[in-house]
Amino acid sequence: MAITASLTQSPLWQQLQQHYQSIRHQHMRDWFAADPQRFQRFHLQAAGLSLDYSKNRITNDTLQLLLQLAQERNLPAQIEGLFRGDVVNRSEQRPALHTALRNFSDRPVLVDGQDIMPEVRATIRRMEEFCWKIRRNQWRGYTNKAFTDVVSIGIGGSFLGPKLASGALKPYWDSRLNIHYLANIDGSHITEILRRLDPATTLFIIQSKSFGTQETLKNALACRHWFLDNGGTEADLAKHFTAVSSNVQKAVEFGIAEDNIFPMWDWVGGRYSLWSAIGLPLALAVGIDNFRELLRGAYEMDEHFRTAPLHQNMPVIMALLGVWYVNFFDVGSHAILPYDHYLRSLPAHLQQLDMESNGKSVTQDGTPVDYDTGPIIWGGVGTNGQHAFHQLLHQGTHFSPCDFIMPMQSHNPIDNFHAMLVSNCLSQSQALLQGKSEAEALQELLDSGMDAEAARQLAPQKVIPGNRPSNTLYFPRSRPATIGALIALYEHKVAAQGMLWGINSFDQWGVELGKQLGNKVLHALEGEPVPANFDGSTQGLIQAYLHMQHE
Ligand code: F6P
Repeated sequence: MAITASLTQSPLWQQLQQHYQSIRHQHMRDWFAADPQRFQRFHLQAAGLSLDYSKNRITNDTLQLLLQLAQERNLPAQIEGLFRGDVVNRSEQRPALHTALRNFSDRPVLVDGQDIMPEVRATIRRMEEFCWKIRRNQWRGYTNKAFTDVVSIGIGGSFLGPKLASGALKPYWDSRLNIHYLANIDGSHITEILRRLDPATTLFIIQSKSFGTQETLKNALACRHWFLDNGGTEADLAKHFTAVSSNVQKAVEFGIAEDNIFPMWDWVGGRYSLWSAIGLPLALAVGIDNFRELLRGAYEMDEHFRTAPLHQNMPVIMALLGVWYVNFFDVGSHAILPYDHYLRSLPAHLQQLDMESNGKSVTQDGTPVDYDTGPIIWGGVGTNGQHAFHQLLHQGTHFSPCDFIMPMQSHNPIDNFHAMLVSNCLSQSQALLQGKSEAEALQELLDSGMDAEAARQLAPQKVIPGNRPSNTLYFPRSRPATIGALIALYEHKVAAQGMLWGINSFDQWGVELGKQLGNKVLHALEGEPVPANFDGSTQGLIQAYLHMQHE
């Protein structure tokens, strides 16, 4: 459903602005002191995940206004349209039906009048058969040895989702198979990966929806050469090279046997493709049953997003909080802080998911927005970040809302490691909330025995403003279904924000310019004349590259 009225012209928007002015100097500390039920009141559960959003700069009134905004922007109808297969990606005239890939209901999903569910299910069955053959050593390499290594070649959405999920589910891996991800076009990366591998026991999966991505094709070609130069023959290629793509013809032209190509579809965006055969490396690592559980967890989150009332809807609430900070507090970034080694790739996946989706400056109908859209997503695994960038979170002039993400149980419960990890997580959000006043800092110094004058001089350095918002997402343990729900939660948060802002969260035209210019620059680096219309800096850097080849 199209949104036409300008967001900022709405009386509700003005009301939100007035409300922001009225609460901006209030401290969350006081709200907690006044309301012992705040934790229970600003708390949600869905698909095995719990969300504590009580440490946000919101009151009941804030939430009511934001929920009204969601209604005014027709969020329920837009959500229904997303699941129904409406053309939500208008610039490419496509639906965004990643939810069909994990549709465990018997509801048909129609694209151009055709139910796509039979093909989706048939593909999962093919994946199952493939995984079964590889994991049971029925499909072997050209010397009849079982595979020991899988190299997944792909970039962006054809890389980040599977990498995140296979890292998150490491405890579920079949220890006989190593999975390697090759994304960047960097001779050092491919060299480091291939150096350790034996072509006779290595399986390659070329992951590219378009089968036209420069980095992926270059890496795939180099792997093919490596395979042929190190014992494999042309006739053996079909045993070792598979692909996932919506462009079967290009994959066949590249030399992949047609039977080894798993389908992708235009109605799945790259950054939403983990749930398709792009998830193959993950399925090989953890087995198809665990992959199905991942899908099931995502499906549960889908059902929640589709059916829960807005005030109990976890992705919607997270989306509204994001809008509250971006558009009223003028905040330009959002930190993702997983307190779990296995979730260390989450910030990178969410960077693509959020920034490629909502890094947009025009609405669906092409009108420039007069408000900010997607924030910069960044972050890192706790507690490492505490000894690096958290200083800015606590005392910097910018504030960045944070999502703390934490399993309550560890897969590796040694000693009291996990209690220590959790205590770090909880105390960080506590410190962000509470801060430390100058009086408190001074008292602390005096109590430590410092003389009064020195304490008075030092105290301002130790002031921590606090009142800095965070969500805490927690769950019992990183199980396949939980990870599915977690990733789907963020997909829907991002989609809901796109709906609120009236932008297209499913295209990515911004990446194209770099690709176009990249080819021209490459020609210049390879000796062709530098185009005269290149700016002076780019010309200078090209010359520097050419000179330094001889140093
Ligand atoms: O970065 C742009 C992009 O198109 C992403 O959206 C996509 O995930 C990635 O490139 C890889 O594309 P492909 O799967 O077609 O190789």
